[in-house]
Amino acid sequence: MSIMEIEGVRYSYDGRRNVLKGVSAKFEAGKMYAVLGPSGCGKTTLLSLLGGLDSPASGRILYQGEDIAKTGLAEHRRSHVAFIFQSYNLIDYLTPMENVALTSKLPPLPILERLGFTPEEAKRNVLKLSGGQQQRVAIARALASDAQVILADEPTGNLDEDTAAGITGILKECAHKSGKCVVIVTHSNELAKSADAAMRLRKGELQISDGR
Ligand SMILES: Nc1ncnc2c1ncn2[C@@H]1O[C@H](COP(=O)(O)OP(=O)(O)OP(=O)(O)O)[C@@H](O)[C@H]1O
Ligand SMILES: [Mg+2]
Repeated sequence: MSIMEIEGVRYSYDGRRNVLKGVSAKFEAGKMYAVLGPSGCGKTTLLSLLGGLDSPASGRILYQGEDIAKTGLAEHRRSHVAFIFQSYNLIDYLTPMENVALTSKLPPLPILERLGFTPEEAKRNVLKLSGGQQQRVAIARALASDAQVILADEPTGNLDEDTAAGITGILKECAHKSGKCVVIVTHSNELAKSADAAMRLRKGELQISDGR
């Protein structure tokens, strides 16, 4: 059974041009999904709607069979989803340890170490970290949360190939071993190949390629 579903979702920022023109898809727990598509095609928009940051103009988004509009978007965001934003959204006056601790009761250091941080880096102010390191703090924060769904917007966009492959492996493990539903927006064909299923957003419509 799917954990999340989108049904006939339409969305427009200006009320005239539809970014999403009736998009439907199902997402299962224990699987990693890749969403591909050219810049500006609506990938971040789709992720925002899945995560309850905004409401569709029409259509429904279901979490475990229930319309998130009925659950309440704030409740959906708080209880079910963890975001890895394209722009990281870290609290910039805190350290990586403090950023991770904000969303988790788990000890932050082992999670940060798994993502390649030294204890010294984990205690440094996040503004004194490289873009790739900040991206990894955002990933650590999502991994540390209890949320069943991880929504990641280009989580490997600022990482070198080897680090990106390592992070992809960790996100996949999260799906396969911890039973989470991981949805990743990406421009990387490598990442898409290692996903359980890939979807392509084009001209406001979503084409689904089967899991490999
Ligand atoms: N707040 C906004 N107000 C008006 N238009 C917006 C807003 N945010 C995005 N758009 C437009 O909606 C379309 C989809 O944007 P979106 O950010 O979802 O694309 P994307 O696929 O994530 O692109 P990228 O790969 O560059 O991140 C684009 O044409 C964009 O200019
Ligand atoms: Mg985007």
